[in-house]
Amino acid sequence: MKFFVDTADTKEIADLAATGLLDGVTTNPSLIHKSGRKFLEVVEEICGLVEGPVSAEVVALDHEGMMKEAAILRKIADNVCVKVPLTVDGLKTCKALTGDGAMVNVTLCFSANQALLAAKAGATFISPFVGRHDDVGFDGMELISDIRLIYDNYGFDTEILVASVRHPIHVLQSAKIGADVMTAPPAVIRQLFKHPLTDNGIAAFLADWQKTGQAIG
Ligand code: E4P
Repeated sequence: MKFFVDTADTKEIADLAATGLLDGVTTNPSLIHKSGRKFLEVVEEICGLVEGPVSAEVVALDHEGMMKEAAILRKIADNVCVKVPLTVDGLKTCKALTGDGAMVNVTLCFSANQALLAAKAGATFISPFVGRHDDVGFDGMELISDIRLIYDNYGFDTEILVASVRHPIHVLQSAKIGADVMTAPPAVIRQLFKHPLTDNGIAAFLADWQKTGQAIG
């Protein structure tokens, strides 16, 4: 499963990229606002920090406007992935852009039927929002299982990008279902490394090592 980080904080992205485990980045207008930076500038910087796809979202709601914004975003770097909302105009834009060789991430997906439409529109990625789905009393992970089943039934190439990930259990369940990608905030990715028994084990080994009085090298 590929790991994307869901942030526009370039310091966090650089730190995580240094682990060699980061496959891409997702942003959205709220994350750009949080960064306090200019959209096009921050996307350009992020594209230089990672080799994989960097999702940058259009804000126009009509097809023509989305196409104009996408053209500007695509000029930033080859690894820009244009993010469009799951609407009629968004999917029309998705079809046109992927037909022209662009990467497209269809965002704000909350049903398996929406995911089916996105795959038919040739989306590179579909982003079902599991956390926001859970928030309103639905089972976000059930949505991922349904999309996996449907995509496998028909051999769609669209990658399932699990979004709105809130905790490590979402990551674990995504991997068990066979999602292609998950995008999570930096804090959730850092949590994946942690286990109290790992910390306890290191402390115990180091304490015993000091008693040996030895050094390596
Ligand atoms: C995905 O691309 C979105 O940016 C993101 O995962 C939304 O997450 P949230 O529901 O925590 O805002």
